[in-house]
Amino acid sequence: MKKNDTGIMDNAKLHDDIENIPSNNSGNRPFASVLESNMTRRGVLGGSLAVAATSFLAPTVQAGWSWGHHRPKSELVGFKPVAISDVTDATMPTISDDYQYQVLAPWGTPIEPGITSEYKGDPNSRPTSSQAALQTGLGHDGMWFFPMDQHDGVIYGKGYHMRSNAGMLCVNHEYGSNSHALGKSTPESLEEVRLSQNVHGVSVLKIEKDRRHGWKVVASKNTRRITANTPVAFSGPAADSELLQNPNGNIALGTVNNCGSGATPWGTYLTCEENFNGYFGANNAFNPTEEQDRYGFSSSGFGYGWHLFDKRFDLTDEDYINEQNRFGWIVEIDPFDGTQQPVKRTALGRFKHEAIAIAESQNGRIAAYMGDDQRFDYCYKYVSDKAWKSAIADGESPLDDGRLFVAKFNDDGTGEWLELTVNNPVLSARFQSQAEVLIYARIAADLLGATPMDRPEWTTIGTNGEVFWTCTNNSNRTEATAANPEAPNNDGHIIRTLDNDDHMGNTFVWDIYLIASTTRGTEGVFTDPDAAWADPYGRLFIGTDGGQPDGLQDQLVVFDTTKDTPEPKRLLVGVKSDEITGFTVTPDQRTAFVNIQHPGDGNPSATNFPAPYDGTTIPRDCTLVITRKDGGIIGS
Ligand code: FEO
Ligand code: CA
Ligand code: CA
Ligand code: CA
Repeated sequence: MKKNDTGIMDNAKLHDDIENIPSNNSGNRPFASVLESNMTRRGVLGGSLAVAATSFLAPTVQAGWSWGHHRPKSELVGFKPVAISDVTDATMPTISDDYQYQVLAPWGTPIEPGITSEYKGDPNSRPTSSQAALQTGLGHDGMWFFPMDQHDGVIYGKGYHMRSNAGMLCVNHEYGSNSHALGKSTPESLEEVRLSQNVHGVSVLKIEKDRRHGWKVVASKNTRRITANTPVAFSGPAADSELLQNPNGNIALGTVNNCGSGATPWGTYLTCEENFNGYFGANNAFNPTEEQDRYGFSSSGFGYGWHLFDKRFDLTDEDYINEQNRFGWIVEIDPFDGTQQPVKRTALGRFKHEAIAIAESQNGRIAAYMGDDQRFDYCYKYVSDKAWKSAIADGESPLDDGRLFVAKFNDDGTGEWLELTVNNPVLSARFQSQAEVLIYARIAADLLGATPMDRPEWTTIGTNGEVFWTCTNNSNRTEATAANPEAPNNDGHIIRTLDNDDHMGNTFVWDIYLIASTTRGTEGVFTDPDAAWADPYGRLFIGTDGGQPDGLQDQLVVFDTTKDTPEPKRLLVGVKSDEITGFTVTPDQRTAFVNIQHPGDGNPSATNFPAPYDGTTIPRDCTLVITRKDGGIIGS
């Protein structure tokens, strides 16, 4: 929710205080030395760290398939970057001369051909709520491509055999403002609330590449829309908690504000509920409890007005008193089973989930790294109790039985993972049960002394098992710390952690990968890092969300993380008032999908993308399919 939670700086405001900011030299040494000792322990000999890691370490399993077996000989990030001067009126995207893009599945696309009509951006109409339930929604955000010959369960080691021309594409629909979705600021009927609810959620699409026409949406029995009203299940330690039941007895429905994403090694999609508080409001006098206050509930929410016609979202309706606790979770979706009920995994905690990156340890257990995107909120890690393959074989979910931790960053470049367990007297003094600890994870993390960060957004795992965390900005920071070295932090930074025990440890080392304001005045300038994805070769893709300097719009930049000095190369620049987010690739890594979110903030006088500029057609969120003109690896 860019409008509500960001402190995006004015484009013109320059940093004049950059020299006064201490650089975090202390962080670099321990990071490098632990990295080195990790490598030594694993018996890796010869070669640069990055090369050795790519070929030897456990696969960076975000993708779920193994790759990295043919590291390119040429420069990792060798494309011709978009120059600042290449970006002119920004009613259409600007892409590197070495690349091309195609628009796929803009808002209003039938989820399979012929199932309903397409909404094409007519400013005088909007879809009905029932049409919207069969179309792609608004706010395209996190996503994942699941290749078509992926089977349930074990999909390791098959990467290069997998199809890169057909798959299921899961796309998050984070949000759509009322003015964009409804053409008015406040809904005036339940039908309008339902329309707004139905442009939210997730699309599960089948897509195929046709040699002549490129990528298109095709029919599949597993195609579906998941919205704010789709039945969902709860699993894990809090599933049966009274705090997730209402006096009304209503079943659990829906997912909202689906921001970033992730994928599991067993081939499922994870969608992350971020600013869920904004959909609730109050029809009567509302005095928030401590818990409601910590999660940002208020009487008007973000102005969606759902509570005006749908009691479920009225914080003061006694029948639905715990409805609010049913949101703020990570939700697992099977892209290959259209009948599966999405599952909210309570072991991963309830907070404003941005995204999730899963790493597999040598022992087969998984770790999941997750940011809570709010100013001064935290970085979390979940560790499964069992190896994921054993859990699946036993009919259990590796995301149900595990432990949740929150990060404490020490100033010397070390850090601790503090466990959110009711066995800790500090937490048992406040909470009755582990369920309660997880439902109010933010408060538990406060009590443990977690380190307040500058809005942790996406996580992604690099070739050495290091985790990159984008901290997008924090205009409210008044005091710089080692882990958040700018005050105020107007441009954001990227912090890097490395677990001391192969993702299973209680300690880690960290360093600052990049402070975005240091790119100001250079050709590679970018700010407000948000979406992130690291490929198995050492490339890091960053999508931005915030006013960009020098006449730029939000952008996609690429780094070669095997180099000592981070150097952003600009691959793509979006349109006015959009956001570049979501990033996923085909197994051959020659096609990437990236989202253009809220082009023009829905205002047709800014841009009409994907339509060419006409000043009236409603701009529509969409996916861009990106390829190199020479068919090469994305990012090269
Ligand atoms: Fe939905 Fe924090 O971005
Ligand atoms: Ca956003
Ligand atoms: Ca984001
Ligand atoms: Ca953001």
